[in-house]
Amino acid sequence: MPAPRLGHPLLGMGVGLRSVHYPHILAHQPEVDWFEIISENYMDSRGRPRYVLDQIAERYPIVMHGVSLSIGSTDPLNHEYLHKLKALAGSVNAHWVSDHVCWTGVAGRNTHDLLPVPLTEETLKHMVERIRIVQDVLERPFVLENPSSYVTFACSEMPEWEFISRMAEEADCGLLLDVNNVYVSSVNHDFDPVEYVENVPHERIVQCHLAGHTNCGTHLIDTHDGHVIDPVWELYRRAHQLTGGMSTLLEWDARIPEFPVVHAEVLKAKQHIADELERVAKGRNSSRDDSPITSGDAAIVTEPVVPHPAVLVTAEVE
Ligand SMILES: [Fe+2]
Repeated sequence: MPAPRLGHPLLGMGVGLRSVHYPHILAHQPEVDWFEIISENYMDSRGRPRYVLDQIAERYPIVMHGVSLSIGSTDPLNHEYLHKLKALAGSVNAHWVSDHVCWTGVAGRNTHDLLPVPLTEETLKHMVERIRIVQDVLERPFVLENPSSYVTFACSEMPEWEFISRMAEEADCGLLLDVNNVYVSSVNHDFDPVEYVENVPHERIVQCHLAGHTNCGTHLIDTHDGHVIDPVWELYRRAHQLTGGMSTLLEWDARIPEFPVVHAEVLKAKQHIADELERVAKGRNSSRDDSPITSGDAAIVTEPVVPHPAVLVTAEVE
């Protein structure tokens, strides 16, 4: 049985580093526990972004988050990209390197989108082999994030939580649990988000993402452009309870407000954790109910907030 978080440190509450906040961070050196950087924004740069990053990396712990690995693609792994990733990780002393359970292109074309993979035994075998190669090259902890998605594959053979769990176990990698992505996909594909969070291997979750999304009525889009909504906080509390704590990061990528607003949003996580501890303690004291929250617990919102999109959209990717 692996150690909690695979033995990786609990970094606290972090913020995604965005260039619009460079002046504030450099001027005020806010008390942020850590920063996550988008790897591709710094891999090929020796200019101002890299100059700023080097200063920030001297003061704050850094974690790297990539969007171009394309671990699910049938294209060969891009070893030039991997070696640039490794060099950047070394220069900022990244605690770990992450990317997504997705593919981003094929035949050498990058779509700049995080596309879902068919959840099949064949995909699983393909991805596990590639994750092992990536880990061998990087020689640094590697974790993969559950994506948000908008289509399913007719050929899929298992739920996403099972695919991701088996992938992490068989490849021996870490997981980045994005509870907003779980919620977005649960509404779009009509699955139980609590069942998802309860069934992934908790000792492999080293990091968590929080974000806002957009409710389009028939579906949700993972826009990272606002505050975290209550049902996502509920999932976060449950995940925190099950894992014993995860390095927590807020993503805010569109309509980005001033830095203190973004920072304050992730600090709300501390209050949610405290509320959960109090709830559990009260339950024990009253000996009324100290059992873990289940998907039937009223505190967890599992009902989709919008009409089930499957009744409106029938197209599936074959
Ligand atoms: Fe995320």
